[in-house]
Amino acid sequence: MGWKVGVLTVSDRVFRGERDDRGGLLLCELVSRINGEVAVYEIIPDEQPVIEATLVRFVDEVRCDLVLTTGGTGFAPRDVTPEATKAVIEKEAPGLTEMMRMKTLLKTKYASLSRSVAGIRKETLIINFPGNPKGVQECFDVVQPVLSHALALIK
Ligand code: MTE
Repeated sequence: MGWKVGVLTVSDRVFRGERDDRGGLLLCELVSRINGEVAVYEIIPDEQPVIEATLVRFVDEVRCDLVLTTGGTGFAPRDVTPEATKAVIEKEAPGLTEMMRMKTLLKTKYASLSRSVAGIRKETLIINFPGNPKGVQECFDVVQPVLSHALALIK
């Protein structure tokens, strides 16, 4: 059986139907590369209490092995995905986001504008990705080689 994955798109515009969810759908595709199966996929607005409650539900009720978020990691006033993630994790996993930024900065200086965090709640790894699909692809490529090992260690 594959890893149980939750994909969470955090974006006011996608939530209102003003923009297609290219980042979230891309993540749904990419998880097949690590033997992941999408158990739950939702689109929510940039509201910290909603993000926190959804992350807690994906971990505590759905019991995902891995939760990948996309969007809301930037500098805009409503970008609060990292704050919501920090509020629900028990341990930080900074190496993953350090590696994402370090390696993708060679491709674009704008990688420095993502405040993404990663961490562990119970037996679930949560990782923030930026909103744009190019950023999702680049960052997933970076962490993919260590993800299965990381998930195996958490259990
Ligand atoms: N990281 C990579 N690897 N590639 C990118 O194109 N885009 C950046 C950054 N991270 C990008 C990236 C941009 S332009 C922004 S504004 C921030 O992610 C935050 O995006 P978010 O608020 O949609 O999460």
